Amino acid sequence: MNEQISAEDLNEENHLMIGGVDTLTLVKQYQTPLYVYDTGAIRTTINAFKAVFEANHVDYQISYASKAFATIAMYQLIAQEQIHCDVVSGGELYTAQQADFPMGNVSFHGNNKSVAELTMALEAGVGNIVIDNFYELDQLSQLAAARQQRVTVMLRIAPGIEAHTHDYISTGQEDSKFGFDLNSGQADEAVKQAQAAEYLDLVGIHCHIGSQIFELNGFEMIVDKLIGVFARWQTELDFYPQIMNVGGGFGVKYTAADQPLQPTEFVDAIVKETIAQTKAYNLPMPAIWIEPGRSLVATAGTTLYTLGASKDIPGIRKYLAVDGGMGDNIRPALYEAKYEAVLAKDPTLPSDQVVTIAGKYCESGDMLIKDQQLPATEPGDVLAVLDTGAYGYSMASNYNRNPRPAVVFCEDGCSQLVVQRESYADLTRLDQPLTLPTTTKA
Ligand code: LLP
Repeated sequence: MNEQISAEDLNEENHLMIGGVDTLTLVKQYQTPLYVYDTGAIRTTINAFKAVFEANHVDYQISYASKAFATIAMYQLIAQEQIHCDVVSGGELYTAQQADFPMGNVSFHGNNKSVAELTMALEAGVGNIVIDNFYELDQLSQLAAARQQRVTVMLRIAPGIEAHTHDYISTGQEDSKFGFDLNSGQADEAVKQAQAAEYLDLVGIHCHIGSQIFELNGFEMIVDKLIGVFARWQTELDFYPQIMNVGGGFGVKYTAADQPLQPTEFVDAIVKETIAQTKAYNLPMPAIWIEPGRSLVATAGTTLYTLGASKDIPGIRKYLAVDGGMGDNIRPALYEAKYEAVLAKDPTLPSDQVVTIAGKYCESGDMLIKDQQLPATEPGDVLAVLDTGAYGYSMASNYNRNPRPAVVFCEDGCSQLVVQRESYADLTRLDQPLTLPTTTKA
């Protein structure tokens, strides 16, 4: 049996359960493709993060990076757990507002926030805006001054530390579009400008070195570098941040080949290193903020598909096609991301074939899983692709005019539809019929 499934995930008929709900019942009720979240698992991870900070007796905040999975119900769940969130667009901010998320607990990120988005954030009264570059520093100072509204800000810095991850999701290196570069002195200049801006209250420093990181040492390096810089800033610039936000990026287990640390181990290392470094420099402890996205939602999510056509090319490969694919999960095509799947009707059946799980989109690259071991299957069987909770729904598209799937939350044996399945009518809702005068000659 897949090592990610345990006996507790199965009912007496050996059907895969999520949050105490039979996945085959979910499929009958909500159809496929279907994103299913075990929301109890999300709460458990949040509490595990909190426990690490509390065991170390430090001031902290957990800010959910909502780009990983953002819906009204998700912001409400995060609010119930009393943690913060970050948004990176007017659209995420709007969704959080629709969820009545406490705006004071929102950080606003982004490397090219528009004036409209900054204005929206000021009107909403977000907790802080994370300034990414000099253009934004200038724009926000002017907007805040024009509105005579004080605004709490942090500065995002690019610390010049490379995380070992996919190039597309690595962000901390010097050659990055994000943040004020530390090594060339841009970050120092940004601190000076923020201090001088009448309506900006600079409270913290933010950095994020990348995503799906498996090693502690990048985070320890970041803490060492930041505390060293803070020590210098305290002397040279009379600035010492109240908040040190080290971002997210904690790696999760997608397949048997992944051997990540527990997300909490990253946090424990970050906290312990901060305590050690501040002691060494004889500095006060800043509040430590983390911004986990993937590690809160990836393994809590599963996508259920129905198997349809198959194609067996003797001696080459057998393809099994599902009723979804790159439109609901672009990660395999975009990052060569790996997943594992099980048959929902009985994940304990012994595997007797190796198949490639193909999507239904008109593109050869639309593959979900290469070389998946499975028992014999029939069309109509439900395939559960595991650990799809991060950056699946949030990066979904309507490619080939396929409607996006529904999202269901499950907890303690109950299920709730939190995003409806798109209809064909939704697909054409914004389309307008052609009215330009025709130039075609009869
Ligand atoms: N904070 C900032 C400023 C970020 O840019 C990100 C992710 C996070 C926090 C959360 O990182 P996480 O804990 O989720 O690794 N679409 C890609 C991931 C892009 C990550 C972008 N930034 C994927 O599907 O792997």
